[in-house]
Amino acid sequence: MKKVLITGGAGFIGSHVVRLFVNKYPDYQITNLDALTYAGNLENLLDIAHAANYSFVKGDITDENFIDNLFSSQHFDAVIHLAAESHVDRSIMDPLSFVKTNILGTAVLLNAAKKHWHGESGKLFYHVSTDEVYGSLGETGFFTEETSYDPRSPYSASKASSDHLVNAYHHTYNLPVVISNCSNNYGSHQFPEKLLPLMINNIVNSKPLPVYGKGDNVRDWLWVEDHAKAIDVVFHTGKLGETYNIGGFNEWKNIDIVHLLCKIMDRKLGRAEGESAKLITYVKDRAGHDKRYAIDATKINQELGWTPSLQFEEGLEKTIDWYLDNSQWVEHITSGAYQQYYHDQYQAR
Ligand code: NAD
Ligand code: TYD
Repeated sequence: MKKVLITGGAGFIGSHVVRLFVNKYPDYQITNLDALTYAGNLENLLDIAHAANYSFVKGDITDENFIDNLFSSQHFDAVIHLAAESHVDRSIMDPLSFVKTNILGTAVLLNAAKKHWHGESGKLFYHVSTDEVYGSLGETGFFTEETSYDPRSPYSASKASSDHLVNAYHHTYNLPVVISNCSNNYGSHQFPEKLLPLMINNIVNSKPLPVYGKGDNVRDWLWVEDHAKAIDVVFHTGKLGETYNIGGFNEWKNIDIVHLLCKIMDRKLGRAEGESAKLITYVKDRAGHDKRYAIDATKINQELGWTPSLQFEEGLEKTIDWYLDNSQWVEHITSGAYQQYYHDQYQAR
């Protein structure tokens, strides 16, 4: 029996990781700790909510006393840390909340692990991070684990900072840590402020599709369930103190992805071909917009044997089908705490 704390488990990637671990490891006790911010939604986990090996705790990772008490009462063997503020546009408008959650929150968790684990063996602090810490690429080249950190947005700077803290706790206190840095994820349950679910939702509702700048920025897309499987592999076989880059060698220009989405959705919605693409609206570019991300995932492939399972077009079809079948989920998550303000910023330009 292993007691695993997963932070941010009510969010997009976290809910896929929680589901995978709860179903695959019935002998693990999984605790999902989440503050349920605008991005956290327990509806993501209704299918496993009553599993015997699962429990949910509402709480904030920046609350030192709360985290200290949780570690002292629960005796966790491992932490998989995903809780974060995760959207670049929000970080441009409100950087301090990213500093607080992503940097301070990670430090609070690291400190609790250091204090309560007393250097015991068999423990693991797994920090889930992003390829955005490496900065922006030109036309060629890939991010490897050796690429120097060069974050450019408040989001990526806060994640880079948290990665440095994790490594610092390893080197200074010998805390058993592992880090993975993943490329852009797509799939079910992603909050519709990120590119793919936002575009899907707007196509369904015949609203403008806001493409930043010229739409020629490049992102490297990975199906979220493949990321969750990679996290499982790194968690169980990754070497302490190491970093693993996770990606699917799947680069797309934003405008090409939006056109592909429009084409698939015209077919699914019974619209004439070209109908949805008429909604494409070029808007003012994101401040400091990183040009290109591309992950070299050779290390995790060769050392740990992980490789993505799905081709992009197949994953995209599955993702679109999920959003079309779950319009209620979209309605719920975009009402209430969702701040329309952020969304409108980009629609209005
Ligand atoms: P998300 O925004 O969908 O979910 C984040 C979750 O963290 C939410 O459930 C939220 O309620 C919770 N949370 C936020 N602040 C908290 C706090 N102070 N205390 C406790 N819980 C809090 O994010 P995501 O896209 O699922 O990303 C998860 C992790 O993976 C993040 O660390 C992110 O940096 C990293 N990551 C994301 C991507 C991506 O493409 N989405 C790619 C690589 C890495
Ligand atoms: P996003 O999903 O926010 O992920 P990230 O910024 O972390 O890579 O954005 C993906 C790409 O899509 C990025 O280059 C910005 C662009 N984008 C748009 O063109 N329009 C949009 O409405 C959004 C949300 C993003």
